[in-house]
Amino acid sequence: MARGVPPIRVCFVCLGNICRSPTAEGVFLNLLDSEQLEDRVVADSAGTAGYHVGERPDTRSLAAARARGFTLPGVGRQFQASDFERFDYVLAMDRSNLSLLERMASTDAHRAKLHLFRNFDPASTPGSEVPDPYYGGEDGFERVLDICAAAARGLLAHLRKTHDLG
Ligand code: 4NP
Repeated sequence: MARGVPPIRVCFVCLGNICRSPTAEGVFLNLLDSEQLEDRVVADSAGTAGYHVGERPDTRSLAAARARGFTLPGVGRQFQASDFERFDYVLAMDRSNLSLLERMASTDAHRAKLHLFRNFDPASTPGSEVPDPYYGGEDGFERVLDICAAAARGLLAHLRKTHDLG
């Protein structure tokens, strides 16, 4: 890691960990790569539910990301209370998942790590969500990508301001 500084650790969280959070993770990793910050910030994703543990992201999410030139990493996993120790930022895709995570957080330090992902997008109304595309059409997956791209840019701007990222 650069200058021996530990990386900032970010975890994106949705319900199933096959649509929104892997998309947010992939978009953010792509941004880190283009800004040459992959060794300063690391990203992961998880679901509050265990329905899709061990699965690759939804084929519709993979196809939408591929069309924009990047891949989505990872296999589905369920968020664990111990993840609050492993990550500096835990970013919920919607208010329902935020509230589930709030119930899993056992200390004020854990609660301080929790945010709604879209709140980092300065153009979005506070409390905005990344809508679940799972039961809808392909346009929902495009919309998730657009929303994640804007929020990822805002998140990175926040990290640059708050941490010494150069
Ligand atoms: P995600 O979407 O939370 O964005 O990964 C969903 C994926 C699967 C289900 C719900 C939402 N499901 O009910 O299986």
